[in-house]
Amino acid sequence: MDIKHIFVVGAGTMGNGIAQTAAVSGYRVTMMDVAEEQVQRGKAAIDKSAAKLAEKGKLTAEQQAAAGAITTTTELVGVAEADLVIEAATENPELKFKLFQDLDEVAKPGVILASNTSSISITKLAAGTGRPGEVIGMHFFNPVPLMTLLEVVRGSATADATVSAILEVGAQMGKTAVVVKDSPGFISNRILCPMINEAILAFEEGIADAEGIDTIMRLGMAHPMGPLALADLIGLDVVLFIMEVLHRDFADDKYKPAELLRQMVAAGELGRKSSKGFYSY
Ligand code: 3HC
Repeated sequence: MDIKHIFVVGAGTMGNGIAQTAAVSGYRVTMMDVAEEQVQRGKAAIDKSAAKLAEKGKLTAEQQAAAGAITTTTELVGVAEADLVIEAATENPELKFKLFQDLDEVAKPGVILASNTSSISITKLAAGTGRPGEVIGMHFFNPVPLMTLLEVVRGSATADATVSAILEVGAQMGKTAVVVKDSPGFISNRILCPMINEAILAFEEGIADAEGIDTIMRLGMAHPMGPLALADLIGLDVVLFIMEVLHRDFADDKYKPAELLRQMVAAGELGRKSSKGFYSY
């Protein structure tokens, strides 16, 4: 299928980043969220990001206009007109399983349903639909307009044609794609989140302060951000959720979430989005 129109479900940080990237890459884009307020917040984030990139000469005036022309909706019905659906809703398994069943009912036959999930099994999401061959993971990285990786997750039933089509879309979006098998945390979060968890354990033990830990990883390992600052960017609730998936699905205590991570999430200290995490914002 010739993919021209992409429907993005979710207007949060990942959804609006994906919508923006698709629009500036020449796709017609519709971005959906459950409430008008969320959709408008997503639109505003896109306008701000596109203006910043245009100012730096990284987007043409035409691309900036394309980002501004993204259509928004609070209904799923528009999925019927899309050639590709990319789901970037809240990382809640029940919500996503139900959403994939709904998307399957509305989308045209043959349309690929992709999920930006960071840890939910693509094989399981696919099994709840009538088109398991056309379900795939498209895992983007925050901030989506800047990060050039696309982790493509192949479920047990994902068809070769689906993988090829998604690799083409990824290339058009300017991303370097790596195809991985469906496994807890895929590759990215299986490696990243235990590293962040280890940094939290070291912080909890008082081995060094947050700035010290982050400086060691920035200057010693050339990471663009230290693990604790990155946890604040990702969201501590998201890191905890992924660690819980790894711990449960591998049944291995090496993935046990740090107690401090649990406490901070319970206290509502989620990182940048709540203005407080390992740092204050
Ligand atoms: N759109 C446009 N511009 C943006 C932007 C966005 N969405 N986000 C940041 N920028 C801009 C900043 O405004 C800044 O502009 P300025 O120089 O004019 O002020 C510029 O990018 C550089 O930002 P900073 O100076 O604040 O910091 P850095 O040079 O360190 O770059 C970064 C920021 C690109 C976020 C870099 O720190 C980085 O690569 N960090 C690591 C991010 C990362 O690891 N992401 C993956 C998270 S894991 C994930 O997403 C998977 C999930 O499943 C958990």
